[in-house]
Amino acid sequence: MNGSLNIKSMNLYNNVDRIFNELNEIGKSDSDNLSIKDLTKFDQFHYHGTDAIDIAIDLLEINSNSKILDVGSGIGGPARYIASKTGAKVTAIELQSDQNNLASNLTNRCGLATKVNHLCGDILDYDFKGQKFDAVVSWLTLYHITNHKILLTKLNDLLNLNGFFYTEDITSRVDLSDAELKDIEKEIYGKHLPSFDKYISNLEHNGFSVVSSEDMSNSWTEFTKTRIKTYNSEKDRNIRVHGKEVFESLSSFYNFVGQNFSNGKLGGIRIVAKKDLN
Ligand SMILES: C[S@@+](CC[C@H](N)C(=O)[O-])C[C@H]1O[C@@H](n2cnc3c(N)ncnc32)[C@H](O)[C@@H]1O
Repeated sequence: MNGSLNIKSMNLYNNVDRIFNELNEIGKSDSDNLSIKDLTKFDQFHYHGTDAIDIAIDLLEINSNSKILDVGSGIGGPARYIASKTGAKVTAIELQSDQNNLASNLTNRCGLATKVNHLCGDILDYDFKGQKFDAVVSWLTLYHITNHKILLTKLNDLLNLNGFFYTEDITSRVDLSDAELKDIEKEIYGKHLPSFDKYISNLEHNGFSVVSSEDMSNSWTEFTKTRIKTYNSEKDRNIRVHGKEVFESLSSFYNFVGQNFSNGKLGGIRIVAKKDLN
């Protein structure tokens, strides 16, 4: 099980209300109504923003009849975007209460509270009381969870017959030393980093048939490289908007991630799988 204290060793998860600083910059007070467009630059805690969500919407054919579970929903960016673009009902589960409270606040202010239901809890032990979903989706979350046998059994059970599982997740591209693993655990709370091939076989051994898979390593290496460059090139602006502490904390997080993709240690996977029928 994940402790919600340890996960805060990952700097992305500190000062999450920094999004209010960005909203103030575009003239929004802390209680104004918001549109999805006001938020998407700041509320997507994965790679390639809403382009990545559009890919999932297309591949899974999400529409207004769909019931979706978003696992590790962060401050709610993907869940809100899916609900607003497709009209689907989205249940969004998030481990950290500060992020979940912020997610609810932003969802209410976007007028999406009837479409997106935010739950605070650990996916491994949350009781969904027999509810089933047409698809489980998850961006950059499952690498935080050590035991994927328990996780995949749970997710499988939450799916309707013919249900889909979609995830974008971190993999390892080399055998990592104990020291590297320790560093990765501290900096990005990485607890489960199989190779690309192992990721696929884990699914196949735990009740899923893989429909498609894509190695995201090169794409995410480029994305994370550009992210550091951009964030640091706007240093003065970012310090003015967020203060020095937030700037340094986020810059150090972006640097660690960028370096570990660029040096070939971390990689990524995008995968669509279907619940096995037997
Ligand atoms: C990198 S963030 C991604 C957030 C969101 N998916 C997005 O793309 O914007 C991963 C999130 O997963 C959450 N998480 C980690 N383990 C979890 C668990 N066992 N149950 C629910 N959420 C979890 C973390 O608290 C964190 O907010």
